[in-house]
Amino acid sequence: MKSKTWKIVGGTAAAVVLLAGCASGGGSGGSIDAQVQAMMKSSFRDQGIAKVDRLNQDLGQKACSTPDGAPADVAKLIEAQNLATIKWPAGGQYFGDFVAGEKLAQNGRGMTWREKSTDPKGNGGNCYNCHQIDQQEISYGTIGPSLWNYGKIRGVKDVTDPNVAAIIQYTWGKIYNSKAYSACSNMPRFGHMGLLNEQQMRDLMSLLLDPRSPVNQ
Ligand code: HEC
Repeated sequence: MKSKTWKIVGGTAAAVVLLAGCASGGGSGGSIDAQVQAMMKSSFRDQGIAKVDRLNQDLGQKACSTPDGAPADVAKLIEAQNLATIKWPAGGQYFGDFVAGEKLAQNGRGMTWREKSTDPKGNGGNCYNCHQIDQQEISYGTIGPSLWNYGKIRGVKDVTDPNVAAIIQYTWGKIYNSKAYSACSNMPRFGHMGLLNEQQMRDLMSLLLDPRSPVNQ
């Protein structure tokens, strides 16, 4: 059998040396973190829409990546910071087309290094990767809760009823920036990170909340 030879390139070799240093107790945590950062920055380059600034973590990403997660007071701060980023839809128009919403929820395209444009128009939401949504779709992930009957369970019979305004706003906010409500959420921040545009989020809102959507039958 022909064996494969693996070539260790710059960054990887540095990582191996650093990890060996950790295992033998060498170096302080802080300086190793700084060295890893420097190594990562020198090992990657901007390509397509994937820029090296992806390595810069905000408070939530940093605090939630530690072994113990974010302490309660930091979690509160992360949620407040993320809540402040939410852009509510123009003209208070929260709803679009649930058929388009289902297509988006199914679609996992976009945001790869091959992409040429940062325009989220071509992106999918990839929601089924983590959520059950329409019961007709039997292939879905379970990292997030089931969203089957999302609006029906929450008593949404008419989206113009002022009594359901709070759940409508929460759902928009959650899709826009999930960390506003759960500091260390695993859910992508679709609006905040420019993954989906306003119209796409409206379509997803209809999928989840419109009483006529297949999700609410
Ligand atoms: C990588 C996994 C992941 C993806 C992809 C994802 N979500 Fe989530 N979602 C979660 C998790 C986990 C939660 C539970 C709350 C939390 O931790 O933020 C959640 C919670 C929610 C909630 C709130 C549910 C409730 O009862 O409060 C809504 C609404 C939601 N997601 C909608 C969506 C939509 C729409 C999409 C696609 C555009 C999507 N999610 C994609 C992981 C994900």
